[in-house]
Amino acid sequence: MPIIAPSILSANFLRLEQEIDMINDSDADWFHIDVMDGRFVPNITFGMPIISAMKKRARKPFDVHLMIVEPEKYIEAFANAGADILTVHYEASPHLHRNLQLIKAHGMKAGVALNPHTPVSLLCDVLNDIDLVCIMSVNPGFGGQKFIDQTTHKIRTLKKMILEHGAHTQIEIDGGVTIENAPVLLRDGADALVAGNTVFSSPNPTETIARLKTGK
Ligand code: DX5
Ligand code: ZN
Repeated sequence: MPIIAPSILSANFLRLEQEIDMINDSDADWFHIDVMDGRFVPNITFGMPIISAMKKRARKPFDVHLMIVEPEKYIEAFANAGADILTVHYEASPHLHRNLQLIKAHGMKAGVALNPHTPVSLLCDVLNDIDLVCIMSVNPGFGGQKFIDQTTHKIRTLKKMILEHGAHTQIEIDGGVTIENAPVLLRDGADALVAGNTVFSSPNPTETIARLKTGK
């Protein structure tokens, strides 16, 4: 069964407590939490205070996706706020290996996100150090964008690399995931699917999560 991670970015922030409870009671596996700084991406979302508040109510792991420059400055703060998986962008990490070690030293799983133009082959020498690769299937910054088709090719290449390295890295797809394309992404090798708009704009988010999970 795939890991389903609803993206809080598309939730109704006025009803955050109910949205958290909906995810708690659904078939979802993780909370996907998008942190944007207005520098790495042209949008600003939320930071540690919101995450720590959510942590008091949520009963599933926090998959925190940092779309920020200099992520190394905030690794400890996000650990304290309640991140279980902390993902930094390859493009924002000149010292990626060091960042991965630092994330793990703070007790979290270490993720690396790749922008659509960044080839998965660039990760080959650190693959065994990565718990999760987040392949961006839209340009990061906003929910509700259209899936970039080239992504499926990247999933297959990365899956092959993981098998060749005997690594235990999980593949997550983030952006434009729908009920229609989810089965294809899973067939190509994805382990985890992020879904914002598809879940929160649907008339019945709980049922949509269940459909993503079962592929039916
Ligand atoms: C985009 C974010 C995504 C976003 C996905 O920068 O990283 O997590 O919330 O939203 P949808 O599923 O609506 O494309
Ligand atoms: Zn994300």
